[in-house]
This record gives sequence, C-alpha cells and structure tokens, in this order.
Amino acid sequence: MMTANEIRESYKRFFEQRGHKIVPSAPMVIKDDPTLMFTNAGMNQWKDIILGTADPEPRRRADSQKCLRVSGKHNDLEEVGHDTYHHTMFEMLGNWSFGDYFKREAIDYAWEYLVDVLHLDPADLYVTVFEGSPEEGIARDDEAAACWAKHLPATHIIDGNKHDNFWEMGDTGPCGPCSEIHLDSRSPEEKQQTPGQDLVNKDHPQVIEIWNIVFMQFNRRSDGTLDKLPMHVIDTGMGFERLVRALQGKTSNYDTDIFQPVIQEIARLSGKSYGKDEKIDVAMRVVADHLRAVAFSIADGQLPGNAKAGYVIRRILRRAVRYAYTFLDQKSAFIYKLLPVFIREMGEAYPELQAQRELIGRVIKEEEDSFLRTLEKGIGLLNDEMSRLRAEQKTTLDGRQAFRLFDTYGFPLDLTELICRENGFSVDAQQFDAEMQQQKQRARNAAVVENSDWTVLHEGEQTFVGYDYTEYECRILRYRQVTQKKSSHYELVLDHTPFYGEMGGQVGDSGVLVNEEETIDILDTKRENNQSIHIVKNLPKNPSAPFMACVDTDKRAASAANHTATHLLDYALKQVLGPHVEQKGSLVSPDTLRFDFSHFQKVTDEELRQVERLVNELIRQDLPLDEHRNLPLDQAREMGAVALFGEKYGDTVRVVRFGPSCEFCGGIHAASTGRIGFFKITSESSVAAGIRRVEALTGSRCEEAIYLLEDTLRDVRSFFNNAKDLKAVVERYIQEHDAMRKDLERLSAQAVERLKAQLLEHAQTVGELRVVKAVLPIEADQAKNLVFKLREAMPQQLVCVIGSTAGEKPLLSIMLSDDVVKAHQLNAGTIVREAAKLIRGGGGGQPHYATAGGKDLDALPAAVDKAIEEILHLS
Ligand code: SER
Repeated sequence: MMTANEIRESYKRFFEQRGHKIVPSAPMVIKDDPTLMFTNAGMNQWKDIILGTADPEPRRRADSQKCLRVSGKHNDLEEVGHDTYHHTMFEMLGNWSFGDYFKREAIDYAWEYLVDVLHLDPADLYVTVFEGSPEEGIARDDEAAACWAKHLPATHIIDGNKHDNFWEMGDTGPCGPCSEIHLDSRSPEEKQQTPGQDLVNKDHPQVIEIWNIVFMQFNRRSDGTLDKLPMHVIDTGMGFERLVRALQGKTSNYDTDIFQPVIQEIARLSGKSYGKDEKIDVAMRVVADHLRAVAFSIADGQLPGNAKAGYVIRRILRRAVRYAYTFLDQKSAFIYKLLPVFIREMGEAYPELQAQRELIGRVIKEEEDSFLRTLEKGIGLLNDEMSRLRAEQKTTLDGRQAFRLFDTYGFPLDLTELICRENGFSVDAQQFDAEMQQQKQRARNAAVVENSDWTVLHEGEQTFVGYDYTEYECRILRYRQVTQKKSSHYELVLDHTPFYGEMGGQVGDSGVLVNEEETIDILDTKRENNQSIHIVKNLPKNPSAPFMACVDTDKRAASAANHTATHLLDYALKQVLGPHVEQKGSLVSPDTLRFDFSHFQKVTDEELRQVERLVNELIRQDLPLDEHRNLPLDQAREMGAVALFGEKYGDTVRVVRFGPSCEFCGGIHAASTGRIGFFKITSESSVAAGIRRVEALTGSRCEEAIYLLEDTLRDVRSFFNNAKDLKAVVERYIQEHDAMRKDLERLSAQAVERLKAQLLEHAQTVGELRVVKAVLPIEADQAKNLVFKLREAMPQQLVCVIGSTAGEKPLLSIMLSDDVVKAHQLNAGTIVREAAKLIRGGGGGQPHYATAGGKDLDALPAAVDKAIEEILHLS
C-alpha cells in the first residue's frame, strides 16, 4: 500500500515526466488580493497568468497546494468533522496548462494517471460534463464528453449543472466549465443494488468527487457578465486526502495515514477511543482537522486575531476547542499537546512547521487558554439565565440571550441548545436567527465597497520604475470608481509608475500627477495583483492625456531609510538574541518603523542597547545598497538571503544586501546605510504569545526626539537651580521629601490621637448610646483615620458623626459600632445621603461606615446635627 507521501510524490513525477515544471505550494494566506483571503484552489497563485497580466512560461506546471476553504465562495467549515471527507485545510494536487494543451490531453493525462499508474478500476470511475447554460449563452460541453467517450461507456458520463460543473474562483475572476471525476468505492453488493451514476453529486460518503478538471475560458466581471480569457487554460485539482483514502482502501479520509497518528494521540491524551461513539468521533475529527489548518496558518505568518484572516483562524481554533471541551472533556488547553505528533508526520514535507514549532505551540496554547476562560464565563452566564427561567417557571431561553452568547462568547446555537436541553430548557431558535440576520444586515450596510469595472483608456500593462526613478512620464491605462458608504474615490493604473504600492510592510507613496493643464494629488498607492494602484479623489479632466507621475521625495526618502533600518534591525536582533528570531510583521512609514518577531521572553534593556549599538555601527559604516533584481530563487538562497515564511516567491526574486544584512525584499531602500543617520529604539512590547514588537525612529525623527529629551532635562534642571549633578540633587530631594512625608504622617497621627482622646472625653450619653460629634478642620484621610480609631476605642454603643472641612470642601463621616447597626437595623449609607442634602452633596457606604462630600461648607454643622438626629430617631 502506498503511503500518503509516496502518493504525493508519484503525482509530481507523473507530470514532471510529461513536461511539467514542479513548483512549490504558494502560502495559504493571501496578502495582496482584496477578493480572496486564503488560497482556496491551486489556481489562485496563477490568477495573473490566467488573466493575461503575467508571463505564462513555463506553460506546464504541477504542484501540491495547501488550501483553506473556510470563507467566501468555497466554505466547508460547518461540514467538517460531521462527515468523513470535508476539510478546512487540505492539499490539492494540480496540473496546469497555460495556452499549451487543452481538453483532450488534460482528460487523457488524468485517465492515464488514475488507471495506469494508480490502478483504479475504470468500472468505479464516473465523470461529469457541463450541460450548458442558455442564459449565459454557453452550449453543452460536447468536446469534453467526446474525450471521455474514448475511455468510458456513456452510462459513466453524466451531464451536470452550473452548480457542479462550472467552476468559479469567487464572485469575480477566472472561471469555466469543468469535468469532475468521481470514484465509487462502495461494496460490490451495494453497487449491484444501486448503480453508481445515480449517486454522483448526491452527497453519498462512498461516491465522491476526487478530481476536477477546469477548462478556464472566461473571466467573470463584477456586473456578472463573462469576458473571454486571452488564452485557454487547464486547471486541475485533485483532493489529496480523498485520493489517499481511496488508494489505502479506507472509507474515511480520517482513517488514512494523514490523520490517524494525530487521532490516536487525541485518543491517548483524552482517554477516549475513536470509532465507538459518533459524537466523540466527530469531535476528534474536528480537532485533527482544525489543528492542521491553524498550525499551517501560523507557520505561514497568520496569527489568530480580531479581524479578517486572523479572525477566521481564531474561529477555526475556537471551534476545535469547543468540541474538545464538550465531547472530549478537555477543560484546559489540549490541542497544542498534539503538535509533536503532528509535526513528526508532516514536518518532512513541510519544513516550515518544523522550523516554527515552538511559536506554533505557544500561540495555540495562549489562544486555547483565553478562549476557555471565555467559555467558562459564558457557561456561568447561561447557568444564571437558566436559574432565572426556573424561578419564573419558564422553559424557553430567549433567542436574544442565545445570540448574545454566540456574539460575545463564541457559543454557536447548537452548543447553547445542548446545554439548555440537558437542563430541560429549549431555545427560541427563530428569534436567534432573526438577530443573526439583523447583525448580518448591519455588517453589510457598513462594509459594502462597490467597485465599478475598469474603464480602459489604453491597452497594455504597467511597468514599475520606482527602484530607479521618482518621476516618470506616464499615461493612465485604466481607472475605476470605488464607493464605500457615500464617499468615493478613483483608482488608476498607469503604464509606467515610480509609485511604490503598499507591500511588505512599507506604506505606499503619495505625490502628484501633473501636466500643463492640471495637477492631481495621488493620496496613496496600494498594491493589487502585482500592480501599483494609485488612489485619487477626482479624475483628471482629460484622463487620456500624458502626465508626469511625481513621488513626494521627502516622504519617500524617510520611508526608504526606515526600511533599510528595519533590515539592519532584523540582522542585529538575530545576532544579539539568536537565530530563532523570525520576522513576523513590520510597518515602515516615513515617520517610524515597527518590527514584530518571534522571541520567547522580554528583550532586556541591555540587549536592546546592544542591538542599537550594532545597528548604529552599521549605519556609520555607510554600507552601500547592493541590489540584485531578477535573481533566480536558488541563487538567492545560496547567497544566504533571509526569506520570510508565508511569502510567495516567484522563479526570480529581488535580493537587497547591506553588508552582512541580506534579505529577499521588494521594497524601496536608502542608497547606503549612512542615509539613515541615527537609529533609536523607542519601545519593546509583547504582541502575542511568543511575538515581541520593537518600535524605533531614525534620522531627523531621532534628532527631534533627542531635542525633546534635552528640553525636558533642561526644564527639570532649572527647577533645581541649574544644578550640575542633576541626578544627585534629585536623589537628595526625593530622600528629603520622603523624610518630610514620614514626619507629616507621624504628626498627623499624633493629632488624630489627641483629637480622639478629646472627643471621647466629651462624648455624650444618650440612653444606651455614646454620641461623638464634631466639626473639625482636618483632611479626609485624617477624618477616616479618626472615626476608625474611635470605633477601635469604643467598639460598642458608638454613634459618631464628624464633619471635616479641609480644602474648603465639607465632608461628612458616620461611624456606628456593629451592635448599634444590628440592634436598630441602621444603615449609615442611607443616613449620610439624607444628611448630605443639607450640604448639597451625596455619598454612601456600608451600614456601619459611610461618607458624603458636598458644596455648602456653612451648612456642615447642621448636617452633622441632622445625621445625629436621624440616628437617634431610628434607635
Ligand atoms: N480550480 C478547480 C478546483 O478548485 C480545479 O483545480 O476545484
């Protein structure tokens, strides 16, 4: 039996022998495409080629791609675990032809691989072809059907509708009819009973799609219409996990050697077994699947977070925690403990897991801990709610409460329902749905960004000239309007541009488009599908005219210096802290730079100093920029250039070197390190488990920071008669100050003691009670001290009301001994509030001690009397 790793290899070898270049998987997290957060198909990384904006050579390629289908058009999340063949993260084997072979060869290759190489039985294979769509003007795919007819009888070739047989990447983008290959792996008896063709695309767990061959012919525009693609493209995707399952003769993907080791580890750690109880099995599958998705995302540089891709990852992990908590009885962090086994199995094929194992573990554990706390809180809340319902003799939980649990505590409806059911309650699911709809509508209203289609003024593609120029002659190739909530702007693509679009942490350039007629401000530049997109408020009057595109060079120079400083910082951190330091994010703007990296404890002041010294040393060496554009990837690696995990690199890359610092980088840099001037770290902090953040300033910003420091010091020195040795003077001052404060406290305590003695002496006896009252010129803390001392001296029968007048503010304090409170059910808080009305104030406290402030100093004696009166009246 072939192992999973052998099967992956055999696919690659098959296509390599047929002229395909074997390429690495692109990262799972997509960084510069606003229409897609995660790679959801093997073809994503070739979108530019398919749309005709990137070089198609080599025209035949094949790979195994890490995919995640948890958001957008292809979302399988809620399925996962409940069946045995859906996954969040999965591997997709793919082969591509960009304007080379088309339907016939693609179909023949697939057939040859499955039947001749893997020896699948043709009797078990069924294929589908697109039935056509009159409303879109597309005919039935007779060509594909004819190709299949060479291999299969007509009963195994099935027409399919748009849902199953027209593949689209998302709402817009490349698409086309497709042919799926389905595998029937039922028992011979079952096959006899029901023919396989009746079960294709019917969600039967043993009759499943394994391979999809897409004939990319169209591009879907935002208005829904289809454009023809410039060339014909073959895009195939085979679900690796499903294939392995078929070849290993299993009935579930989770029974293959891809998942079993982790499932066995879950069983071992939880003390439960797989294959006995469906609920437990589902939970184990959820955990095993989600662990992969989350670990690969973190390795690709995407940490769990509050927004966008980070939030999706967080939700996946939380789903796993919930299942482990509910069905596997894991009440403390658990999933991170599976990593050693998982990495042992996958680490060879994916070395990024190996290299970042410590970081992945820390991040998962911290997320688990924090979500478990939330979960406990939510369960507490639900318990309170159920007690309330019980008291009110109700049996249904309000849908709004259920929604609140979902929204704030991440409880999906089924979990709330489960807990409620166990306690004899039901949940108003209809109302829950209504709340959910309302929230979705609110989000939709807030987020709608409408892009018009591009208006094309000139045909052609963009050339970026920003590494060599800050001004360049250009034309607008195309523009579109973008509207969000009533405000709108335009986005321009120029034929030549010196403007750097935001990427790799460096912010985009701003500047102007000018000609004799007009000047248009370019507010910002972003990067989309490998192009600089220029943001302008208004279009030029004559958009077809030639312009000069001019970058704001001051800002550009400042950003460039900061970017170069970031590279030096990365180098210095690795030198000082160790080679485990990996860049995990950065922000480079004209004003400042920020660098996030993996490191597992606080960076000490001494280490930070060392880093600063090293960076400034490299600045003083004035190392020149040594830039290599279009360097073949292998050569770049040989140079020892630092690459980032989770970054997508083409066949050739740009490498930027300043002396010992050498990195893969597409950014704009200073001509030499000397341009940075000076480097100073301003803060070091933690951003997540195992990730630290350093912020720093360079050049003129450092200069300003130093002036500010100097001015502050000068001011402070002037407070001390311009003392020479400021530190010694301040130290002495602090000592004196401390000594004086101690004296003051001692004197004040003595005063309180004296007052206490006098007041006790003059205490009046009213019935059983001893009444102490006075209006005194003392501070609030002295008053507090005083009444507590009085209570200490007279723990019984005490009624004490003190008015104090420090700082022109009247304060009323009431102190009662406990026996008085108890005997007469008194509450000093209520009494003080009542009496404070006289001094136009308010307050409160406990039954035995309460205070109130006010505004009317003159009325204080009256308020004291009033309080006494009230107490005596109630006693
Ligand atoms: N793009 C197609 C899919 O994802 C084939 O690779 O199914």
